[in-house]
Amino acid sequence: MKKIYLDFAATTFVRDEVLEAMMPYFQEKFGNPSSLHFFGQEALRGVDEAREKIKNILRAEFLREIVFTSSTTESNNLAIKGLAFYYYFGKKIKPHIITSSIEHPSVLEVCADLEDFDIAEISYLKPEKNSLINFEKIKTEIRENTCLVTIHYVNSELGTIQPIKQIAKLIQEINQQRKDPIYFHTDGAQAGFENLNVQELGVDLMTLSSHKIYGPKGVALLYVRKGVPLIRLFSGSEHEHELRAGTEAVPLIVGFAKAMELVENEKEKINAYLSEIRNYFIEKIKYFDGKIILNTIPEISSAKILNLYFPTRSSQDLLIYLDSKGIAVSAGTACKSRANEPSYIVSDIYGKERSKNSLRFSFGLTTTKEEIDYLFDCLKNFL
Ligand SMILES: Cc1ncc(COP(=O)(O)O)c(C=O)c1O
Repeated sequence: MKKIYLDFAATTFVRDEVLEAMMPYFQEKFGNPSSLHFFGQEALRGVDEAREKIKNILRAEFLREIVFTSSTTESNNLAIKGLAFYYYFGKKIKPHIITSSIEHPSVLEVCADLEDFDIAEISYLKPEKNSLINFEKIKTEIRENTCLVTIHYVNSELGTIQPIKQIAKLIQEINQQRKDPIYFHTDGAQAGFENLNVQELGVDLMTLSSHKIYGPKGVALLYVRKGVPLIRLFSGSEHEHELRAGTEAVPLIVGFAKAMELVENEKEKINAYLSEIRNYFIEKIKYFDGKIILNTIPEISSAKILNLYFPTRSSQDLLIYLDSKGIAVSAGTACKSRANEPSYIVSDIYGKERSKNSLRFSFGLTTTKEEIDYLFDCLKNFL
């Protein structure tokens, strides 16, 4: 049976070039970067070069602004809790955070925990009908103790690209009228193929993933603009400029930087290819007489994700059927979809009934038109 992977928003395979870059650091260059001897210094060079590469790609100002973590979940925790703890424990102020109701659980659950422990107040912005966050509403939510706005860059389930530059600009304007600044964090886990220039974006904190851009799992980063006050979550040694204790995962960090470098060099080509695949897919939908409807609005979305509504079939039935045909897709964010629940993001925008019949298709570098043809041949027999 054919095996077709259309779940690239959940994770990607590791590219050959990335694997090749990582290999020496598993055996020949296995040292601990904190060791003073040759083995350690060789490993440290690997980490330093990776950090330099990424600093240049993000146009960050300082090397210490790049903090390697174990996952984007950890990066989101560090950004949000790190700042909340600084205000709550350091300044003895209970902070207020503005986010949206359609963030990934690694943001929403962090906010919920902070609320449950009475450490922070949280405001949740609702998306508009078109799945964009109406960022003007931030203005009406601002309080004296607001310290952070955290809005994702690319939506994990719909692919919508949020107006990050405009949000940053608005916050900068608001900050001109305030003594204590409001910082802006974006979860860019799904935004690896978008503009990642932190100066152009105007973000203070940005989470990025490795395993969504053909790098290894087990590593991610948090960009922390100089001066943003974070309290570390892991106590221990002085790794990552005292923001994240624990011996660096050298091979993974090297692989992550290689994956970012490849994307940086090939971004236009990758996005053009993904758009071609997506447009081909959308053309095919037209022959299904209303049995397949777009939840994603392509004009404002990343080319790698298409979320679809199937009025005549539940997502569970479709998932099982497609799996039996060797086609891997998902009903939503991987960690939630195992819970067999409809997507809360699709639900928030289109209602619960529609979300029960919706699926996310996501494309990658190896997706072909033949695979899309096969998918639609299968769907024709089922819808
Ligand atoms: C937007 C977003 N943020 C965070 C995450 C969490 O990523 P990880 O499980 O790699 O920590 C994901 C994963 O799908 C995501 O899509």
